Amino acid sequence: MTALVTVEEIRAAARRLDGVIVRTPLVPFPDTCPRLLVKPECLQPTGSFKLRGAFAAISVLTAAQRERGVVTHSSGNHGLAVAYAAEALGVPAVVVVPDNAAEVKVAAAARHGTRIVTVEPTLEARIAAAQEQIDQHGYTLIPPFDHRDVIAGQGTIGLEIAADCPEADLVLVPVSGGGLISGIAAAVRAACPAAKVIGVEPELAHGDRGRDQGGGQADRDPGPAGRRARRGGGRGRLAVPPRPAARAGPGGGAVRRQHRARPAR
Ligand SMILES: Cc1ncc(COP(=O)(O)O)c(C=O)c1O
Repeated sequence: MTALVTVEEIRAAARRLDGVIVRTPLVPFPDTCPRLLVKPECLQPTGSFKLRGAFAAISVLTAAQRERGVVTHSSGNHGLAVAYAAEALGVPAVVVVPDNAAEVKVAAAARHGTRIVTVEPTLEARIAAAQEQIDQHGYTLIPPFDHRDVIAGQGTIGLEIAADCPEADLVLVPVSGGGLISGIAAAVRAACPAAKVIGVEPELAHGDRGRDQGGGQADRDPGPAGRRARRGGGRGRLAVPPRPAARAGPGGGAVRRQHRARPAR
């Protein structure tokens, strides 16, 4: 079994990300009881947390790997994050995208000097095209979630949550491939052992919940998010082992703070 990502790896990623990512605050969500705090990762330069993992992974490559370049396959946020990070580090990048990817994100990735390779919208086609790029050009693959340095980068969110809200008792994390929750869980559980970390996803998507419960493919149309989850295929090998939960609360990327009065100092 592959060992899970450690908090030391996450701290090392945080040092590499210093000055690159936005140190996002925890913002109170209005009128919630118990109190809910939201971490607005949409404030990152690429509009999502994915920059943390992409930069953390590309910044540890050797000089030879950087010179050859990187490749990833992603329909959106991760591809844009790899494009941004690669440009910032002076590394050539290729992003394989499905032909139905959001034009705005593909165009944004291209603006960072990334070469775009378009394929039919299946996971198999994306993986095959990325492999072809690796075989032809010797690129290093920067996968969207199942990768130690990517997970460590996403885990820096957990370090920040623990620093800003050490009394957090519940952390809700949106889940697709599981990279984000794996990193956050490792960091939060190290600093706040009493806190629960729960993965959430849109009810009709259940890409992760269905798999965890052995449900296989759902028979309902899961909507755009669910179709995306199904295309994604599964959680990574490095993802935290799941404990299925029925319903996990009002949203993702949020922290609940305990209501106990703090002792007077
Ligand atoms: C905005 C957003 N939130 C959450 C996730 C889930 O991240 P992970 O695939 O690491 O579980 C993704 C993945 O694409 C995402 O783009």
